[in-house]
Amino acid sequence: MNFCSRFQADTKMSNTYLPEKPELSPTLISDDDAVRLQYAYGAVKKSLEAYVTLAGGYVIEAQLPFPVNSDSEIVSEFRKALQRGKTNGRKVRLTMIDHVTSVPAGVLIPVKELIKICPEEGVHKVFVDGAHGIGCVDVDMKEIGADF
Ligand SMILES: Cc1ncc(COP(=O)(O)O)c(C=O)c1O
Repeated sequence: MNFCSRFQADTKMSNTYLPEKPELSPTLISDDDAVRLQYAYGAVKKSLEAYVTLAGGYVIEAQLPFPVNSDSEIVSEFRKALQRGKTNGRKVRLTMIDHVTSVPAGVLIPVKELIKICPEEGVHKVFVDGAHGIGCVDVDMKEIGADF
């Protein structure tokens, strides 16, 4: 992780960082993909969709079971979404991963495992929606390895 900022609200953070952060802005180019989890928070989902659509890219959703019974189900669905994003010569440039979901409530996402997969699959940047992470579980931001 290169930097850490504190925002009043998580939604404000995603609205600010996605369009304006120079490290991220050139990340997405036309016809490339971003992958997010099905259980992403609504407002953050919209920020991502607006950013990606304006750049001419596509958002791929990793479908998750309900209820989630194991980390391996999440990892497997995430891998499938990355593969879908790489069809037709496209690249997955960005992933957005929640740490602890709110709908459904309280699913602890294996962020570290998912982030580890990203460079292996050619993903450039990883954005973690950390709402609820701090406070629910021990968080070592360096160890998690997200970009922001
Ligand atoms: C997973 C998740 N992400 C983002 C948010 C948005 O947080 P904020 O209200 O700080 O913008 C919430 C709010 O509950 C949330 O549950």
